[in-house]
Amino acid sequence: MKRRHFVAGAGLALAAPSLIIRNVAAQALASGAGFPFSVASGDPTSDAVVLWTKLARAADDLTPVANGSVEVEWIVANDERLTDIVRRGVGIARPEFGHSVHVDVEGLQPDRWYWYAFRLGGEMSPVGRTRTLPSASAALSRFRFNVVSCQHWENGYFDAYDGMAEDDASFVLHLGDYIYEVGRGGVRSHESKTAPANLDDYRRRHALYKTDAALRRAHERLPFMVTLDNHDALTENTDDMAKLKLRAAAYQAWYEFQPVRNAPLLSSPAMPILRGRDIGGLLRLSIPDTRQFKDSESVCAAGTDRNFAFGVFQKACEASEAAGRSMLGAPQETWLDERLKTSQARWNVLASTVMMTPFDMDHEGALYRYLQSWDGYPAERARILDQIEKYRVSNPIAIAGDIHSNLVSDVVRRAGDDPKTALMSEFVGTSISSLWPEPLAKPMRDALPANPHIRHYEYTRRGYLRMTVTEDRWTTDLRTIDFTDKPGGKVSTDRSFVVENGQTGVKAA
Ligand SMILES: [Fe+2]
Repeated sequence: MKRRHFVAGAGLALAAPSLIIRNVAAQALASGAGFPFSVASGDPTSDAVVLWTKLARAADDLTPVANGSVEVEWIVANDERLTDIVRRGVGIARPEFGHSVHVDVEGLQPDRWYWYAFRLGGEMSPVGRTRTLPSASAALSRFRFNVVSCQHWENGYFDAYDGMAEDDASFVLHLGDYIYEVGRGGVRSHESKTAPANLDDYRRRHALYKTDAALRRAHERLPFMVTLDNHDALTENTDDMAKLKLRAAAYQAWYEFQPVRNAPLLSSPAMPILRGRDIGGLLRLSIPDTRQFKDSESVCAAGTDRNFAFGVFQKACEASEAAGRSMLGAPQETWLDERLKTSQARWNVLASTVMMTPFDMDHEGALYRYLQSWDGYPAERARILDQIEKYRVSNPIAIAGDIHSNLVSDVVRRAGDDPKTALMSEFVGTSISSLWPEPLAKPMRDALPANPHIRHYEYTRRGYLRMTVTEDRWTTDLRTIDFTDKPGGKVSTDRSFVVENGQTGVKAA
């Protein structure tokens, strides 16, 4: 059954619940099932939002709560006490998806706060808050959202999320590395020292991450839009069956634990991930999938000094410049082209997990680049920049994560170009907790003089970005936390940058 059909028929299900499912719900209750992962919401549109929860006896007990599907009631209200009810229905927690519940609640009003909860028999979930997007045609004077990425459990606590309590943002955009598959120890330990090798392993890893208190509070407070980077599901475009099988497991567990609309097919290594949103006339947001269709990142690995920067930065080679190389794959490139061509929005945002900005580094006289980023796909990047130029796209802005550093730049075509020739500006946000070790930081630091389009680079601080968008100005606040080695760190604004409407180049605020 398609999810949308289920949602449309939710009222019917309430009126005539199947006896079998009701019995299974009783069985689940008897087994001690509850909501140890609390609740979350995500993928907001102007009239819908996905509500999420997952039934379990405890966060570290992932044995099925029942043999079959379980009915879970949901409720959406205008108030925190859930007295002014807007919508209600029944969601199905299916065993094949780990008894997770995803309800796509439609027919909501745009740009509005809602509160919601789930109920299983007499067991009530915590109450979550969510928000719809403004309608695409709304005249918006101001819009605010947060951007996060990279939360390594072992590297630190996720308390940077608590800084958002004072932000008055409409949603959280998560650019990936929601989980990490390996760690070398740190302030706390993964449940296993080894990387997930199957679906249950991935489920246990996600379950662990969901127990971080600040992350839980953030999910209860704001809708998320989540995309995936390399640590969520390692594999790039490949024919290797073992890798594809692992990717299928990673995708399924990711779906089971995320408030997202599109389910993967069971055991399928394919999942629809890209998203586009129009937020008033102010903002067109494009979030492509930068992993699933990506050509190899290791194309220059053979000539690379593996002892330099852990082999993460590679010696530039001709193969990486090939015209046919792609991070997005042809269908997504066409999708993005169409979005750039047809946009009427004041600000046009490409949120792509990895940085767009060219960055040339030197190692013993040789040119090195971070080929996992857009620097490994320069022909495709040039095509996107060509489109931005050709269509005279209004105020293009790139957003990325991945490098656990705050990096603010103007996206020139080639490193060393005059920053005045830049076609867009980019904000790369630092990590929630993941560290950027010195062997990676030093080559970037040393390369700054040769890359004058990089306006700011800082890698020791953890945190997130706060974007405030008005007709006249884009403001990015670098929100950083004072410590992450224990809970309780406090967030403040480290510094701010602006892009003025119609002007090229980012400036310190
Ligand atoms: Fe990361």
